[in-house]
Amino acid sequence: MADLKRAAIITSGGDAPGMNAAVRAVTLTALRNDIDVLGFNHGYQGILKNSFKQLEEIDVRNIIQMGGTIIKSARCHEFKTEEGAKAAAEVLDRNEVDVLFVVGGDGSFRGACHLSNYWKGQVIGIPGTIDNDIDGTDYTIGYFTAVDTAVKAIDKIRDTADAFDRIFLVEVMGRLSGFLATAAGIASGCEQIICPEINLSPDDALPRITETIRANQNRRGAASYIMVLAENYWPKGVNDLADKITESIDIDCKPIVLGYIQRGGVPVFEDRILATKLGVGAVERAMAGEHRVMIGEVSGRINSFPLDRTGDGTKHVDKELLSMQRRIFEGCNKS
Ligand code: F6P
Repeated sequence: MADLKRAAIITSGGDAPGMNAAVRAVTLTALRNDIDVLGFNHGYQGILKNSFKQLEEIDVRNIIQMGGTIIKSARCHEFKTEEGAKAAAEVLDRNEVDVLFVVGGDGSFRGACHLSNYWKGQVIGIPGTIDNDIDGTDYTIGYFTAVDTAVKAIDKIRDTADAFDRIFLVEVMGRLSGFLATAAGIASGCEQIICPEINLSPDDALPRITETIRANQNRRGAASYIMVLAENYWPKGVNDLADKITESIDIDCKPIVLGYIQRGGVPVFEDRILATKLGVGAVERAMAGEHRVMIGEVSGRINSFPLDRTGDGTKHVDKELLSMQRRIFEGCNKS
């Protein structure tokens, strides 16, 4: 057991709906166990600047339903150096912090491991990113809301696409993975999902994309047609791919970037529950002495996972979902 008197918490990297619910769960659980909580502003940057607020129960009251993060976020380059990590360790020591909770994604967890090379306190990760690209947890906080936001946006695009029988290419976030694209594409009934996990190089993908559109148009006649594109998959971006599709099929393909709206908004209940479970779990595991772990949920069970392995890339988009999506639109024997 660890004798914890003071905890610190940061939210770091791309903000995600449900981060506030995690801050709330960590704070309330810590306070119930007589542990003070310092909320450092703007992630690692706030630690370097010694900018924090001691969080009391009133500070986290009525924030479970709020998007964004009340303690702000940032990406901090200064912290990535040896001097940066040593300076952060010094600030945490000066404030007598025993444990740091980091709510964020892969980059934030790399930062936590980096810090722990120079700091003797415990570090515990809580996965918060809309990308869902973190190993050691089935889902990350914010992913469900981002999928929901993308689906609602695509539903609206469908209305206008349908009115004109138009073709749209909708870019969603996800960093280098297709978790968001796949879920949003399936749930909004998109005709194609284009993401790294289709296992085709962009050069090989283009003929398949256009042949699939043609085959569909031949079968159904003029009809709306929506493709979801995972960001960073197409080297020159969504406008370039839309132009290439337009040239090839000789029908206008309209590009749309959903962008940052996917990071905002009221968290859906799945993210609130996940954040609450992981926040409570994180404090309890810290009290049990765990260190350099991320608290995730795997098959419904709270799980500790080595923090330095959360970016290994062993969690994959469900290939069956992608195959099923092709089978719906193209028939059997398509993988
Ligand atoms: O990791 C979350 C995310 O929103 C990614 O989906 C996206 O690629 C990236 O952050 C955008 O980062 P920034 O906020 O630095 O523009």
